[in-house]
Parts: sequence; structure tokens; C-alpha cells
Amino acid sequence: MHWWTSGGEGAAVGVLKKDLEAKGVKWVDMAVSGGGGEAAMTALRARAVAGNPPTAAQLLGMAVIDWSGEGLLGDLNEQAAKEGWDKVVPPALQRFAKADGKWVAVPVNIHRPHWLWMNAKIFKDNGLTPPRTWDEFNATADKLKAKGILPLAIGGQPWQEATAWEGIVLGLGGPDFYRKAVIEADAASLKSATMVKVFDQMRKLRGYADKNFAGRDWNLATGMVLKGEAAMQLMGDWAKGEVLAAKMTPGKDILCAVAPGTQNSYLFNTDFFAMFKVGGDRRPAQLTMASSVMNPGFQETFNLAKGSIPARSDVPMDKFDECGKKSMTDLKAAATAKTMYGSLAHGHAQPAAIQRAYLDVITKHFNSEQSSKDAAESLAKAVAAAK
Ligand code: GAL
Repeated sequence: MHWWTSGGEGAAVGVLKKDLEAKGVKWVDMAVSGGGGEAAMTALRARAVAGNPPTAAQLLGMAVIDWSGEGLLGDLNEQAAKEGWDKVVPPALQRFAKADGKWVAVPVNIHRPHWLWMNAKIFKDNGLTPPRTWDEFNATADKLKAKGILPLAIGGQPWQEATAWEGIVLGLGGPDFYRKAVIEADAASLKSATMVKVFDQMRKLRGYADKNFAGRDWNLATGMVLKGEAAMQLMGDWAKGEVLAAKMTPGKDILCAVAPGTQNSYLFNTDFFAMFKVGGDRRPAQLTMASSVMNPGFQETFNLAKGSIPARSDVPMDKFDECGKKSMTDLKAAATAKTMYGSLAHGHAQPAAIQRAYLDVITKHFNSEQSSKDAAESLAKAVAAAK
């Protein structure tokens, strides 16, 4: 079970399917569309409750911890020991992949959700360079708007709004503020003057989008940038999968830069495959899949298609484009500087109920005329109530 249904995601899942079929494992596809995986998680819950969980399911970090806490995930320790996973998977990922010292899921990638994608032709024709701060971003967007060019492609779904929001929290507040406001859910930070500024910037974003953003899927918004219908999109590097699927070149046709102000830090989300406790007859296929996912060659091919970078630290990066190489360099620097944190929008910062509280407030503010101050206060309240 997975939620990889866009063009780029489909290409990446095809790599996994082909790899397993070559090893004699039959692939029964259960794709549940909906970026960010919310619909997939509802479908998974229904299957698990009915006593019929999938053999393997795509999960984001916190969800691995949840399902393993319910005692439903199989133990992969034997395979892990045989193949030395402990030595090659970054500790930040192992925190989610292991429960009580046991490997219960395998990481397939590392995504960075705070990127800015730009149509190179629009930027060149208008003499623009990638904005490095939110003030520069606003100035760039204002220039485009004045010329009748749509500055920003937005997909209006809570997880997408939260993806932009967390990039702004990091960019305007810096890594310490992100840690306090998101990882520690600190009430004073949630209703602080900085958070008010974050919501002000969210309001600005809406002014740079078209009128039809509500409900739009993220890959359709990416498509607008690829076609030159909009100049920019704030989105994770799965958007690069769409660039590649459209046979365009990242860094040339579509420019990539980290979201304004986030140059020295790194938010991450990782897609894991967890093996549910199902009949012993399916165990060999589960172990084959776990081993395939962890294979360095597979990690290279898969991540080249997906837009992410490998979840192993020993995979050569020479075949990756400049955006992928930058992601790896920045990841290593942020891990050393301790400015690497899990993404809230993509299930690596807070358990589901608290994450939901953040997303509800972010979406309500974005889709109404609520003031930034009210939004910040309501965020502090909602998060405290969900804790
Ligand atoms: C993320 C997931 C990515 C990508 C994205 C959009 O949560 O980690 O792999 O698929 O959703 O669907």
C-alpha cells in the first residue's frame, strides 16, 4: 500500500515493482491517491481494523512508531544484522525505523520538504534571480504580479499549506524557533510575535496564487510551473520527480533553491516500508522486499526517479543532479550543526493528533480572513488541547 500516484511517484514505484518482480515477488498494487498520504492512512486503518493489513505499507516516521506501538509490525532484526543496516542508516532515521531496539521498517529515501521550484524561462525573461529571504521572495512575486504573471502555483490542501508554513517557520524564525514551536510545541513560541509574522507571510502567499487553488493536487500545481503558467512553487523535492517525468532538466529548465531563509537548516521526511504481521507464507516476500529497499543500487535508482536522496549514507551521489547533490551536502552540514529536524507536515515532528491540531489552524487561517494574531493564539490553544 502506498500513495505514489503522480507521474514522478509512479515512475519511482515502478522501479520497486520491477526490482521485486525480477526476484519472483508478485506485486499486488494498492495505491491510494492523495499527496501526503492522509487518504492512504485512512484506508490502512480500515484494513487493519478488519484484520487484513497489507503485506507492506508506506508510512511516514511517526506512523511507524504508532503502528509498531500497536504491536502490528514484524521484526526485521535478522535481516538488519545480516546486512549491517545499523552502520549505514543515519541515526535520525533509525529513531523511526526501530522500536525497542528492533527494526520494524525500512527507509527508502530522504525528502526535503522546503524547496522553491522556479520556471527558468520566466526568471530569465524577467531578469530575476532566486529569492534568498522572504522579503526578496515578496519583492520577486510583486514584480511578476505587476507584469501579469502568476507568481505562485499553490495546491490548496491542509498538508500542502502546512508544507509552506513549516518552511516559513524555519525561514523567518530560524532552526531554534522551529525546534521550539514545532518539535517542542512550546506555547510561548506558538503565540509569539515571530509566529504572527509567519501567518502574515502565509497571507501574502495566498495573494500570489490564482483563485482556483482550493483542493488542487500538488502535482497539478507543479505542472503549472513546468508549463510556464506560474513562476514558482513551494514544495518538497518529490516535485523534482514531476520535472523528470516531464523530461525536463532540474537546475536548467526548472530551477531549485531551498525555501527562503532556510539555507542553513534541513527538515526531512522519509518514506518507510513497514512489514505488517501477516501469514508466515508472506514472510519471505517481506524479507525480500526489505532487503531490496535497503540495497545501495536500488536506493540510487529509486531516488534518482523520486527526487529524494538515498536513506543510506554510503550511496555514491555522482549520478544525482545539482539539486540532489545540494540536498545531500546540506543534510550532512545540518546534521553536524544540529539544525536538522523532522517535518511536521510530513509526519516526522509530532504524533498524528497534535499534527492534526497544527494543520487545522494553519488551514483555517489560510482559507479565511482570520488575523495573524488570532491564528497564532488559536494555534497555541489547539496544540495545548491536543497534547
Ligand atoms: C510525502 C511523501 C513523498 C511524496 C509526497 C507527495 O508525504 O513522503 O514521498 O509522495 O508526500 O505525495
